[in-house]
Amino acid sequence: MSPSFRALLLAVSFVPAAIAQVTVTNDPDLAVDAGTLETLDFSDAPAPLSLHRPGGIHYACKCLPGESCWPSAQKWNALNTTVNGRLRIHIPPGASCHNSFNGPFGTVNAYDPVKCAEATQNWSNEQWHVEQPGASLWTYFTNDTCRPTTDPNEPCTLGYYGVYVIMANKKQHVKAGIDFARRNNIRLIVRNTGHDFIGRSTGYGALIINMHAFQDITWMNSYTGPGFYHGGAVKIGAGVQANTILAQGHAKNPPRVVVTGECPTVGISGGFIQGGGHGPWTTLKGFSADNVLSFEAITASGQYVTANQYQNPDLFYALKGGGPASFAVILSTTMKTFTDLPSAGATLYINTTHTFDPNVIWNGTAIFHKWSNHFVDNGLYAYFEILPFTFRVRPWVAIGKTKAQLESILQPMLSELDAAGVPYDFESKAFPTFYDLYIDLFEPEAAGDSALTGGWMFNHHDVATNNDGIIEALKTAAAPRSDLFGIIIGHLFNPGYGAPHSNSATHPAWRNATDFVITVLPVPVGSSLAQKADLQNVLTNVMDEALRSASTSGCTYVNEADPYQPNWQSAFWGSEYPKLRALRFKWDPLGVFYAVSTPGTEKWEVIDYGTRLCRRL
Ligand SMILES: Cc1cc2nc3c(=O)[nH]c(=O)nc-3n(C[C@H](O)[C@H](O)[C@H](O)COP(=O)(O)OP(=O)(O)OC[C@H]3O[C@@H](n4cnc5c(N)ncnc54)[C@H](O)[C@@H]3O)c2cc1C
Ligand SMILES: *[C@@H]1O[C@H](CO)[C@@H](O)[C@H](O)[C@H]1NC(C)=O
Ligand SMILES: *[C@@H]1O[C@H](CO)[C@@H](O)[C@H](O)[C@H]1NC(C)=O
Ligand SMILES: *[C@@H]1O[C@H](CO)[C@@H](O)[C@H](O)[C@H]1NC(C)=O
Ligand SMILES: *[C@@H]1O[C@H](CO)[C@@H](O)[C@H](O)[C@H]1NC(C)=O
Ligand SMILES: *[C@@H]1O[C@H](CO)[C@@H](O)[C@H](O)[C@H]1NC(C)=O
Ligand SMILES: *[C@@H]1O[C@H](CO)[C@@H](O)[C@H](O)[C@H]1NC(C)=O
Repeated sequence: MSPSFRALLLAVSFVPAAIAQVTVTNDPDLAVDAGTLETLDFSDAPAPLSLHRPGGIHYACKCLPGESCWPSAQKWNALNTTVNGRLRIHIPPGASCHNSFNGPFGTVNAYDPVKCAEATQNWSNEQWHVEQPGASLWTYFTNDTCRPTTDPNEPCTLGYYGVYVIMANKKQHVKAGIDFARRNNIRLIVRNTGHDFIGRSTGYGALIINMHAFQDITWMNSYTGPGFYHGGAVKIGAGVQANTILAQGHAKNPPRVVVTGECPTVGISGGFIQGGGHGPWTTLKGFSADNVLSFEAITASGQYVTANQYQNPDLFYALKGGGPASFAVILSTTMKTFTDLPSAGATLYINTTHTFDPNVIWNGTAIFHKWSNHFVDNGLYAYFEILPFTFRVRPWVAIGKTKAQLESILQPMLSELDAAGVPYDFESKAFPTFYDLYIDLFEPEAAGDSALTGGWMFNHHDVATNNDGIIEALKTAAAPRSDLFGIIIGHLFNPGYGAPHSNSATHPAWRNATDFVITVLPVPVGSSLAQKADLQNVLTNVMDEALRSASTSGCTYVNEADPYQPNWQSAFWGSEYPKLRALRFKWDPLGVFYAVSTPGTEKWEVIDYGTRLCRRL
């Protein structure tokens, strides 16, 4: 805790010239703090705990339970009082199936047969996980700890989960959590729905702020905020999920929509929008982030701010796709709304109902993919999956188009499948609105699985010049080694079709996107550290490497990609990266927030086998 460490840290990372221009919201609730909130002030942050390693590496680290810098019980009690008693010790959601939970504060008896039955029955249910205080839907980055079991003697530990959770329901609770983490040098995790594929809503030794209670939604017929836009808008609280907003919009007259993800349970104002956010409307209206009018947020220094084109415009830009958990905690997002339209949808299946020959299935896949530029150039979106012995497109989405129009766009592909003798089932259907299509054709997704995920985007040029190479790469990703299989989830969309000029921090290459694919490599629960390292190597250097090699100028999506890929900065943000990195040092110079492979985290590392969060000195 030497003062020189603090001086060094500030000297290295602070950008004094940038800190003055912050517009602070005049909030009557916050009269106590408002007078002092003139600049971003980090003077209350202590020097981080410092470590030296045998290799000569010096680290400045966040405090962990058991260390002398970890706050006393009195301090935690004081925090609990500030958050109106909403602080909880975090216990993993499967603990009720285990006789004992060995947490950082000792061993407690956790077994509860009723709760265990509930956890077991709901383990693959996304919404059940969303409603837990800190659960991760994809369990790999919790260290797969403490799953439901029929053997109560199985050990249950905290794994890589956080230690305490604030079940925030007022913005003052969120501020209290940020301030506490900053003042005590504690790792901070903001947790919305827990959908994150790459573990960014969980973290060893962390204080978690749970945002699920922020469910306010305010619809506006005409936006009255600053600027030229006066169309429909909606202000969406930090915890609102896509299905809630779409259902409410559908009940309006005329029905309204917002650009959300295809996934009904994913959040809007959390990691989704800070990564960009793509969904069925993206070809027509751009990323979700392109449609944001304003944010309410709290900075790393604990200030309430509004960020839009006129107030704190640099923060506004960075929150729109610049990476989650990096620039501020979002309290609400105000977005443009659109009138819903009659739509058409279609599905295609090639599986063991039709053939047992994988080559025939791949031939069908190649024909589909060859036409993918044609689909997005006609304003379509499509969601497809490649699984063992299965290729399925469910669905194509044609918003504002008739069934006949959709069929005529798809006909050249169907004719080519027929000519090649590839068997398939195809169906198309008209719907009164997009929302009706969404309810009918999108399927519930599952939770509770352990997997590594990666992904890459192929643009128009890649598809036009190297479709066969892309298909070979997808074959590699689907069968990366004789003992392994991968799953591929594809999304055809082009934000540049409807929103050719980006107003967000997303990678410029997206404006010519055709196909963004996610790669999934299942990891058996109970794998050793060596097995995990082997599978991470397969994901990075076999599966995703094949995709990158087949692409001349694609990019990838920070929310659905391998954070350990080489050159993640240019893969996620391209030419936007230097600006984002500078903004990170302006808005969060001390690293109060952290998510792997986000702007400015080059020196940050989770050491000691996935536990201790540190900054290399
Ligand atoms: C089944 C499934 C389907 C998906 N479908 C889509 C899709 O259609 N389109 C798409 O674009 N993505 C999709 N995703 C990916 C999705 O964008 C990411 O999982 C995203 O991180 C989810 O954000 P969240 O806030 O809901 O989740 P969380 O896991 O709770 O949070 C994710 C990250 O955001 C941070 N965060 C959360 N809330 C806040 C806040 N209020 N302020 C600041 N930081 C915050 C967290 O700290 C974490 O780093 C899908 C994911 C899954 C698992
Ligand atoms: C916080 O206070 C509430 C209400 O008094 C109590 O139920 C809860 O256990 C406290 N949390 C912690 C972590 O002590
Ligand atoms: C969880 O399982 C129980 C049965 O134990 C069921 O009644 C309940 O509806 C489930 N909850 C959710 C959110 O699915
Ligand atoms: C994480 O899992 C590995 C096994 O893959 C185990 O060796 C390690 O002790 C676990 N760490 C924690 C903190 O749970
Ligand atoms: C797949 O298509 C290729 C031509 O692209 C053809 O030579 C081959 O016979 C086809 N294979 C099957 C099994 O249909
Ligand atoms: C295979 O395709 C048929 C449609 O032809 C579909 O009904 C069935 O569910 C598919 N099977 C699998 C395993 O996806
Ligand atoms: C998109 O790709 C096409 C075909 O490769 C090219 O002609 C066009 O210039 C690209 N547009 C952008 C915005 O990059």
